[in-house]
Amino acid sequence: MPRGLSSRLRALEGSPMEVISSLLRSPSPDLIRLHAGEPSHRPPLEVIDDVLESMRLQRTYAYAPAEGLPELREAIAEDLGREGIRASPDEVMVTPSGSSAIFLVLSALLDPGDEVVLVDPTFMMYGPIVEYLGGRVRWVRAGEGFQPNPEALKEAIGKRTKAVILVDPDNPTGRLLRPDVARAVAELAQDRGVYLLVDEAYRTIVYEGRRANLYDMAPDVVVGLGSFSKDPGVPGLRLGYIYGPREVVRACSRIDAHAFFGPSNLSQLFVLKYLTWEGRWRFIESVVSAYRERRDLAVSALRKYVSDARFSVPQGSMYVYADLSPAVKDSNEFARALASRYKVTVMPGTAFGPSGSSYVRVTFVSEPPERLEEGIRRIGLALEGEG
Ligand SMILES: Cc1ncc(COP(=O)(O)O)c(C=O)c1O
Repeated sequence: MPRGLSSRLRALEGSPMEVISSLLRSPSPDLIRLHAGEPSHRPPLEVIDDVLESMRLQRTYAYAPAEGLPELREAIAEDLGREGIRASPDEVMVTPSGSSAIFLVLSALLDPGDEVVLVDPTFMMYGPIVEYLGGRVRWVRAGEGFQPNPEALKEAIGKRTKAVILVDPDNPTGRLLRPDVARAVAELAQDRGVYLLVDEAYRTIVYEGRRANLYDMAPDVVVGLGSFSKDPGVPGLRLGYIYGPREVVRACSRIDAHAFFGPSNLSQLFVLKYLTWEGRWRFIESVVSAYRERRDLAVSALRKYVSDARFSVPQGSMYVYADLSPAVKDSNEFARALASRYKVTVMPGTAFGPSGSSYVRVTFVSEPPERLEEGIRRIGLALEGEG
């Protein structure tokens, strides 16, 4: 008998994704999928054609630097510069997905017993990965409109705290950080000498308002994490990036060079062509405008069919995070019943933090409008049936 697996795996057990995956093992054509963070727009054909050309070149198949193709690091730095984020190409590294960017940064920062402050709710990967790496999570409940509460964050930062993590625009809530809150948290991180990780996977998917430039406020401590899954619409190409203080980027590159040795060249070439394509901003505008319509549809369908739901209208990202109390007390159970009896999948709020037991996250971009509306109508039916 082999001697068994790492005890660290306990940190990854029982994720709500496992509930959803078990339901998807026997999918029915009638199943409406409102759980996944998967964009539904097609990547631009012009960019695809260019990349097909690159597939004929021998160098596409060679090993490349672990921290990413130099031209792509430059293109990412330039792209960030359009938002006033002044990171130089050597403060940027390309990663094999946004998820691996999270893993790399946390691996670079944490020793066993170190603490990370997370806003409750937050993106579901953070808590389990912090614990997997031997760290501890300090949860701090979000305030009004899901804005983080700087005073409460301040109290949660202790001697062992290495980092505070914010997602902006947020997954699961769709909130955009208010500029005064962003400034207060950036100053707090700077004062207390903790890193501020800013997950920008939805950086360009903003419906109203402007994203705060945290990096400009505290460049010594802010580490940006990004993904190319969402705006070009290519989650399967698995590409992300990290930018920030040189010592952090260098440490992440070193781990990457030992663990993964960089992302796929083909994915990098796709994103390089995309970022340098003159149609990029028009393309994003059209995606954001289509998603805004879906957002509006989701909001009005929730008001019509699930009139007791409490939620903030999302200002960015792809989700509405709705509180279904008092009808829902166990969001895992509700998600399971909704999928099996009403053929709609949503993410249970328990995935995103301790406060999530009466919440569900509804993705509004993954299904066409009529199926989105029908899915939300069925959530209303389920609440009547299960309540
Ligand atoms: C907030 C956030 N960060 C990071 C990621 C990871 O993105 P990927 O691994 O697809 O690049 C996601 C994906 O859903 C996300 O929502």
